[in-house]
Amino acid sequence: MILAQMAQTTLITRAQIDERVGEMGRQISTDFAGDDMIALCVLKGAVFFCTDLVRQISLDVALDFIQVSSYGNQKYSSGVVTILKEPQLDMREKAVLIVEDIIDSGLSMREVHRYIESRGAKKVKTATFLDKPKARKVDFRADYVGFSIDPQFVIGYGLDFAEKYRNVPEVQVLSD
Ligand code: IMP
Ligand code: MG
Repeated sequence: MILAQMAQTTLITRAQIDERVGEMGRQISTDFAGDDMIALCVLKGAVFFCTDLVRQISLDVALDFIQVSSYGNQKYSSGVVTILKEPQLDMREKAVLIVEDIIDSGLSMREVHRYIESRGAKKVKTATFLDKPKARKVDFRADYVGFSIDPQFVIGYGLDFAEKYRNVPEVQVLSD
């Protein structure tokens, strides 16, 4: 019996990731100097990017987590965003950097951004590891983008397909 194979091809190497995350960290360190900063990691995909990024930020930075509803086992968004896990820290008067793995339709980030503003943050910026600008359904622009990619399904460096492949160290395109 022949099983359907998922082909995986490298899109972004480990070396490219390290170099770019270093650049982003340096830029963010400049832009957030003097701020009372919180890095807000969007679970689960951004964990890998976030832990690398905060170690490239040369400022005091608190860490918190939020989780919003994901695609489940689908490759495409349902368009409904709900908060599954709330942040623990007080965001009032803080400078919050939302750290996301990938922006696709823009729906998740639009909602997270609005939600953090509603918690009283004085500055809310977004850093995304990957961006698929051609896949937008709502207008949302991240302040810091690691790599812009075409609208294709990618895995690795935290990104999953049905909870698989998050631990692949580089970014790969998944196709069947
Ligand atoms: P959006 O709300 O459509 O922008 O979806 C963003 C979320 O969908 C991301 O945080 C990911 O969890 C997931 N996602 C979007 N594209 C991909 C992909 O190519 N691979 C893995 N997850 C993805
Ligand atoms: Mg995500």
